[in-house]
Amino acid sequence: MTKFQLNGKQVVVEADPTKPLLWVLREDLQLTSTKYGCGIGQCGACTVLVNDRAVRSCVTLVGQIDGRNVRTLENLDDRLGASLKNSWVKHSVPQCGFCQSGQILGAYSLLKNEPQVAAEEIPTKLTNICRCGTYKRIHEAVESVAKGEE
Ligand code: FES
Repeated sequence: MTKFQLNGKQVVVEADPTKPLLWVLREDLQLTSTKYGCGIGQCGACTVLVNDRAVRSCVTLVGQIDGRNVRTLENLDDRLGASLKNSWVKHSVPQCGFCQSGQILGAYSLLKNEPQVAAEEIPTKLTNICRCGTYKRIHEAVESVAKGEE
């Protein structure tokens, strides 16, 4: 049994503590914004926030997040989250869209911890993969939020 905060609410899951958090979110809790891409911690499609830091949920065991605070795209309505979502729309970032919730959560983690990150550092600090190659628009959207334009 694992207890944690999920999107502002306390949850208790009976899943095997060695089950990846990704599958607990998708299968047990029906939160499907978190995507499965590679399953080996490389692509970032499964990114969630654990205590406001980006974590790859495919390689995070649910037992490891006992007592922590987990957030998914379904609950990203604070000021920074809203600014990022607005900027994503303004810059028409998504193409196929599959990786985008992970991209936004990765960007949230970066800006939460480095609110005024320099534009030239954004590409090296965001490591999620996008098969459509929307990187330029992702970086522009993040830069816009870092500059307080959103
Ligand atoms: Fe987790 Fe790719 S699915 S990093």
